[in-house]
Amino acid sequence: MVKTSSQPDKKPHFAFPKSFFWGSATSSHQVEGGQDNNWTTWEKEHAGELSRGSQKAFDTPSVHWYRMKDQALDPANYISGQAVDHYNRFREDFDIAQDLKHTMHRFSLEWSRIEPQPGQYDEAALTHYREVIRALHSRNIEPMVTLFHFSLPKWVEARGGWTSAETLKSWRNYVSKVVDALGDDVTYWCTVNEPEVFSTFSYALGFWPPQQRSFLKAARSYASLLPRAHIDAYRIIKRHNPKAQVGAAKNNMWYQATGRFVSPILERLAVWWGNHVFLDKIRKYQDFVGINYYFKYNLKGFGGEIDQQNPSEIGWGLHPEGLAVILQDLHKRYAKPVIVTECGLADSTDELRTWYLKEILRAVHRAMEAGVQVQGFLYWSLLDNFEWDKGFWPQFGLVSVDRKTQKRTIRPSAREYTKIIAANGLD
Ligand code: BGC
Repeated sequence: MVKTSSQPDKKPHFAFPKSFFWGSATSSHQVEGGQDNNWTTWEKEHAGELSRGSQKAFDTPSVHWYRMKDQALDPANYISGQAVDHYNRFREDFDIAQDLKHTMHRFSLEWSRIEPQPGQYDEAALTHYREVIRALHSRNIEPMVTLFHFSLPKWVEARGGWTSAETLKSWRNYVSKVVDALGDDVTYWCTVNEPEVFSTFSYALGFWPPQQRSFLKAARSYASLLPRAHIDAYRIIKRHNPKAQVGAAKNNMWYQATGRFVSPILERLAVWWGNHVFLDKIRKYQDFVGINYYFKYNLKGFGGEIDQQNPSEIGWGLHPEGLAVILQDLHKRYAKPVIVTECGLADSTDELRTWYLKEILRAVHRAMEAGVQVQGFLYWSLLDNFEWDKGFWPQFGLVSVDRKTQKRTIRPSAREYTKIIAANGLD
């Protein structure tokens, strides 16, 4: 836009540094389509059961059940299938990200494509991801590459997944292969996504494959094997390129005690176990702390629950101010730069997204004024996608996708985000 003297360059009230990265994130299983991994098998076996249980799970006061019940009651909703066909349409999707002025994009590699059988690597899959990375660079978008975002090759799952030390050996081979193939083109790496969510859902609560219920297995995976996987990957990447920037994506919650006696002690315990065990273990092996923020958690007596005040479409309470608390806590403990590797909401009608984005960015700014070095913000997600055991009905995208035609439509909030990016801040 041509500036005239009547349009002076007004500095936004909440101005961000020039080097700040703005963008969004996706993960392979949720957008690519055409997968053959531990989730694809599980989805087919459980679609009927998930659809039958959906009314009980989601017909609650904080969820707009009437809006999504047709989808939620349909077993096809729970099968990732062609997803949003991002594997074939990544160029078109990155054209959109470029149009929206994004400067960073986080995506994950699908291990099951790269190593479909133990020790057998598929060069075509590596070439594909090389093209993905080049497509981002050519649009001036900095790639951030995630190595593990919840989906595993079937053969890894069969050997015990992240509860087996065998997996660490396979992981090191996979990471070395990937870093040899792609490492020259990638600066920002995210090793593992949300170790605590993955371990809790897969091995403690039994919601996700392989649906086990063992606190010990969950603890072993979250507090032992996944930190080791991160450290091994960190070393492999740094050996290849000492200047690479390596972190993990940790989902931290804003814990609040609501009782007077037991809860404050429990709050400390919850903050330690939920937010810091993993980060403490990898503290010497990260260039930035990657943080995903979605939840406030209220502790009451010996129990607790996810806050549902001011809910998004899936009933998760929206508390933008909590991110400032979490960022300051990270700064105090780790004194490292932070990248918000995910933050977003399900909102098919786009009623709340602009409000949430603005409030969350003001919270990020407040934390920066208090001394936290935040290097970037990645909205979850660029596209509507496959939301794990909930399937397709929760719509997190800046861009909506009609899955029958695969047509992409940019939501109004995405344009509002672009205005913020263009101004490098907001009022
Ligand atoms: C995960 C994403 C997920 C998002 C919304 C994060 O827990 O990394 O895969 O889609 O939150 O639930």
